[in-house]
Amino acid sequence: MALERTFSIIKPDATRRNLTGKINAKFEEAGLRIVAQKRIQMTMAQAGEFYSVHAERPFYGELCEFMVSEPVVVQVLEGENAITRNREIMGATNPADAAPGTIRAEFAESVGENSVHGSDAPETAAVEIAYFFSGLELVG
Ligand code: CMP
Repeated sequence: MALERTFSIIKPDATRRNLTGKINAKFEEAGLRIVAQKRIQMTMAQAGEFYSVHAERPFYGELCEFMVSEPVVVQVLEGENAITRNREIMGATNPADAAPGTIRAEFAESVGENSVHGSDAPETAAVEIAYFFSGLELVG
C-alpha cells in the first residue's frame, strides 16, 4: 500500500453551516491525516482556473459563483491510498447516490453544493496541492 497525499476542499455550503470539524472528524476517523489546512476566500479567478477542466460544462458558471460565495477550507490529506480512500469517505458527487455514512450522504445539500471536493487521480492531486500550498506549508 502506498502512502499518498490528496487535495481536499471543504466547500461553502459546509463552512456556512459550521461543519468543518464534523467533516474533519470523518477524515481522521477513517485514518487520513490533515497535514496542511487553511481557510481562504477564493477569488473568481482562482475558482475559474481550479475548475477550468469543467469550463465547457453548463454548470461551470454556477460552480464558480458557489465556490466564491463563502470561505472554503483547503486541505492536504495523507494516508494509505489517500486519493481513493478520500473518495470513498466523501461518497458519490450527487448526494442522492452517496452511500450511507459518507460525508456527502450526511451533509451535502445537492450535486452542486456537495460539501467537499477531493482529487480524482495522483496527477490531479499533485497539481491541485501545488495550486494552493507551497512545499513549506506541507508538514507531514
Ligand atoms: P467536485 O468534486 O468539486 O468537482 C466538480 C464539481 O462540479 C462537483 O464536485 C460538483 O459539485 C459540481 N457539479 C457536478 N455536476 C453538477 C451539476 N449537474 N450541477 C452543478 N454542479 C455540478
